[in-house]
Amino acid sequence: MTKSTLALYQKYFVDREFERRDLFQIIADRFTLQCVLYPGSFVHITPSFIFPEVVYVDNDRQARQFFDAPETDELIAQKKNYSQMAQVRYHFADYRNGFAEDPDSFDLLISQYAGFVGQDCKKYLKTGGLLLANNSHGDAGLAAIDRNYQLIGVFFLRKGKYSIRETNLDEYFVPKSPIRVTKEYLEKLQKGIAYKRVGNAYLFRKVTG
Ligand SMILES: C[S@@+](CC[C@H](N)C(=O)[O-])C[C@H]1O[C@@H](n2cnc3c(N)ncnc32)[C@H](O)[C@@H]1O
Repeated sequence: MTKSTLALYQKYFVDREFERRDLFQIIADRFTLQCVLYPGSFVHITPSFIFPEVVYVDNDRQARQFFDAPETDELIAQKKNYSQMAQVRYHFADYRNGFAEDPDSFDLLISQYAGFVGQDCKKYLKTGGLLLANNSHGDAGLAAIDRNYQLIGVFFLRKGKYSIRETNLDEYFVPKSPIRVTKEYLEKLQKGIAYKRVGNAYLFRKVTG
């Protein structure tokens, strides 16, 4: 168990150079955030290296084993860049059906390659909290047309390093084709549409409840 647990993180994130540690660090450097929620995380525990309190939700059995294993806490303890003890909770759940966390209690909601997290888990995010989303399933596109969210940053990945742009954001989420983009359309498509300008990931603020 020891070896295979750590091997999972190594295989999916370290070997593929896909930890995205600096993506989370950029956010941590700019904003004061306490509680982070990561639905559809699989075993991507990198946010716990940066943020002291992270709740993970995933309905994959390998993920459940991974979060049950003591080695996972040890790995976080080795790699974290803050002094306090890491607080990590995991729910083996379909995030669409809800899980035992309080509404309006998180400062950052992470949506990476796992469906419409920004919609299905919006209720757990505080008003004023942040949504980090990419558009692999159209979740960022949905946030862009959602009045509850406002785009505040666009991330780029160049030569293995992330950077953020916070100006001229109205250049993003302009469709390449003249189609009417609706929530229903994006939910049905499940892969996002083509936009004139794109980033690697997007940061939104939840502006209304
Ligand atoms: C492609 S992986 C992405 C993992 C991680 N977010 C990353 O960026 O590396 C998608 C993960 O989302 C989980 N997932 C998808 N839909 C889910 C749902 N409705 N409830 C819980 N987990 C879900 C899957 O089990 C899988 O582990």
